[in-house]
Amino acid sequence: MADRNLTRPDELSQGLSFYRSPEGELFCEDIPLRDLARRFGTPLYVYSRAGIAERLEAYEKAFGEEPHQVCYAVKAASTRGILELVARQGAGFDCVSGGEILRALEAGGDPKKVVFSGVGKSVADIAFALRAGIKCFNIESPAELDRIHAVTERLGIEAHVSVRVNPNIDAHVDAHVATGLGDSKFGVKLTEVIPLYEKAAKLPMIRIEGISCHIGSQVESAEPYLRMVTVLAGFVNELARRGIVLHHIDLGGGAGVAYHPDEKPLEPSELIPALIKAVRREVSVPDIEIFVEPGRSVIAQAAVLLTTVQYLKSGLFERQFAIVDASMTELVRPAIYGSYHLIEPVVPNPKAQRQILNIVGPVCESTDFLGNDRNLAIEAGDLLAIRTAGAYGMAMASTYNSRPLPMEVLVDGSRVIPLRRPQTALDLTRDEETLGLVKNPGMSEEAVRSLFAQSLGMSIE
Ligand code: LLP
Repeated sequence: MADRNLTRPDELSQGLSFYRSPEGELFCEDIPLRDLARRFGTPLYVYSRAGIAERLEAYEKAFGEEPHQVCYAVKAASTRGILELVARQGAGFDCVSGGEILRALEAGGDPKKVVFSGVGKSVADIAFALRAGIKCFNIESPAELDRIHAVTERLGIEAHVSVRVNPNIDAHVDAHVATGLGDSKFGVKLTEVIPLYEKAAKLPMIRIEGISCHIGSQVESAEPYLRMVTVLAGFVNELARRGIVLHHIDLGGGAGVAYHPDEKPLEPSELIPALIKAVRREVSVPDIEIFVEPGRSVIAQAAVLLTTVQYLKSGLFERQFAIVDASMTELVRPAIYGSYHLIEPVVPNPKAQRQILNIVGPVCESTDFLGNDRNLAIEAGDLLAIRTAGAYGMAMASTYNSRPLPMEVLVDGSRVIPLRRPQTALDLTRDEETLGLVKNPGMSEEAVRSLFAQSLGMSIE
């Protein structure tokens, strides 16, 4: 174990969840990442328990004595062990499907701290949420209120609801993750908000709880949130005048993190006090509870994706590639949003020549890259860490190109806890039905599966 007091500060992690030893080797808590790659193989997601805990504590601390509820956005990283850590710290959950509610509750979450957002809630999902007794549905359209009402009557269970407002606010974020603009599919448009509450107030099985909003993700400053508070406060105050008193105001998630050492994260210690101040100043309902739904800012910096360099190769025009064993199937953000993730060697390689490389995966798509134009000194066989990979990493992983899902482990001090059973391609084909068309298969199914299994994990070092 390296003495963490002797370590070099790491630019991207808050606290000491990831740091370099004096020799320059990257650690997660007390464990060298190199040991984890050797034990579990790559690609491998590694999460720091302390890193997750510290972020949730930062939200709690920022709220202090204010009435509040932090609902972790399950979509950012939804593996059971992570949700268990979140539940144990007393946080609630923002879910967007019956499946996410199932995960949150299986992990021990309190249904009374679950909010349910999403534009396409199915009848089955609504029924499940009602039966489980969740805190609140964030209603995204007038048609959804009708559907929820119909399910409440059918089941004889009351629904607690908020209206998710589309505030038509530009949060100055990437177009892929902007959700508060008027032309996006999210939320109820401004002119429909008051009529929808008035309608809901007349429905016997509907209990009005609050109001909600989410303007986008990777937001860099508190400023767009303050504009959102003004819009929501206008509705809360107008509704109170009409006799509809709301109990909570849900300001969504979206706080940005640092993907690059030059970026400044939007810290809970900066955002939350500004929100509290604005809500208390502008909302006429005293002590209205403040909800937030952070995802990225809880989990992004708490994980890395480890990958091994397979080949170096050159293309035309001096273009150099490092082909690694991770790809868009493990981390799709660069491929679909052009997102930047810092990529660095886990152990410095003094023998390797420094060069400008495109770090790409094995998937047969030109868009399958993890980072372009990176100045790195690496060779085949070297281990790389893709940083700030905890949010929307594993949660968006796919099995495209028949690639199994990567393994995930949690580091807690000097303990290493696997978060899932390792998967292989054998797991991918197991549940598929045969048409029975091929009478004389080229190879028996047992034989081919056995050959595949024998070859797994083979190395030539
Ligand atoms: N609440 C709602 C209703 C949301 O739609 C989202 C994210 C959140 C909370 C959490 O936002 P966060 O705190 O994580 O920014 N896949 C994209 C991000 C999509 C975000 C979708 N909604 C990415 O990889 O950047």
